[in-house]
Amino acid sequence: MAIPPPSPPPLPGPDDGFRTGCPDRRGTGAEKWDRWEGRDVIPMWVADMDFPAPPEVLEAIRARVDHGVFGYTADPPGFAPALAAHLAGRHGLSIDPDWVVGTPGVVTGLALSARLLADPDDEILTFAPVYPPFLSLPGAAGRRCTRVELARDAGAPSGWAIDHDALAAAVTPRTRLLWLCHPHNPTGTVFTRDDLLALAAFASRHSLTVVSDEIWADLVLDDVPHVPFASLDHPAARGCVTLVAPSKTWNLAGLACAAAILPEASWRRRWRAAGGGLVPMLNPLGYAAAEAAWRHGDPWRRRLVRLLAAHRDRALEAVAAIPGLSATRPQATYLLWIDCRSSGVADPMAACVEAGIGPSDGRDFGAPGFIRLNLACPTPLLDEGLRRLAKAFS
Ligand SMILES: Cc1ncc(COP(=O)(O)O)c(C=O)c1O
Repeated sequence: MAIPPPSPPPLPGPDDGFRTGCPDRRGTGAEKWDRWEGRDVIPMWVADMDFPAPPEVLEAIRARVDHGVFGYTADPPGFAPALAAHLAGRHGLSIDPDWVVGTPGVVTGLALSARLLADPDDEILTFAPVYPPFLSLPGAAGRRCTRVELARDAGAPSGWAIDHDALAAAVTPRTRLLWLCHPHNPTGTVFTRDDLLALAAFASRHSLTVVSDEIWADLVLDDVPHVPFASLDHPAARGCVTLVAPSKTWNLAGLACAAAILPEASWRRRWRAAGGGLVPMLNPLGYAAAEAAWRHGDPWRRRLVRLLAAHRDRALEAVAAIPGLSATRPQATYLLWIDCRSSGVADPMAACVEAGIGPSDGRDFGAPGFIRLNLACPTPLLDEGLRRLAKAFS
């Protein structure tokens, strides 16, 4: 009788908290790990995960490598249909694949939207605190950023809500765009259909174009739907720009592959031309990875979401036990937004690094006194990071 071959070791995956098989990223040019290179600081800042991409995605990249030719590459035929099928299947958003334009990053998409859809000195509304490029890109494009603070609302699931009075007070005749971060980074707020309909009505009243960054749409941790802004039954939704990418969900940021969904044909023509030699083409490995993630990545994504929700709950419990700190509960993302203003620590960021943990500094998000913690690492590393966080504020 033939002896059966030994069974292969279990694949590293979200089910085991990625205790096995998380590669050492040091010395690989990983931005996250290089920041405090050579120091005993656990990096929990920039939003990428320490987990390897799903096997299905790695296989697609290998197959593309085996093809062996990496010439200039435009959106391959399977790219837009894979995205359209993903959006329809997961989010009930029906788009024409012709509306999809590949872009090397969502940030690039935001920057292009400022230049194409607003004139110099026009104003772009954005809810704060927010992912830093929302605050800096308008100015870099010669447009103006108008911040509207999100309101603390203990009754809201994420603890944060839109302040419609502040929004109404902020709009002027020069306002052209409303940049929505949905789900919102750093608070993890998933805007509801009612929230979005109110924004759509507001945008219509003031002739604003909504640009909705939905890069976090596939990492909703609670049992609530992500409602794409473009899926609303409203004229503002039919004329919006949606920006998406597989990079957060399947950990592909280094492959520089995202997409803009532009229902207007004239915008698509101008968008493609607008890079003006500054925006590079996408690369074939990014396209291969994106297509595989959208087509085959959902089982892995669902397991990941379970792990991230457990990490969120673990981290919330740990933060609640640290005097002077309070965190709101993100409904989405793997980011925890922590208010350190009652801790008596003058510089929370410096205190954290001193204690061996490296979060993002709230100042970059327009919120001094806050830190943002990235929870997407192996569970044992998260636990050690949380121990160090307690030490920083002890
Ligand atoms: C809301 C949001 N948009 C965009 C990005 C970055 O997108 P990209 O790497 O595709 O430019 C991030 C990264 O954390 C993000 O949180």
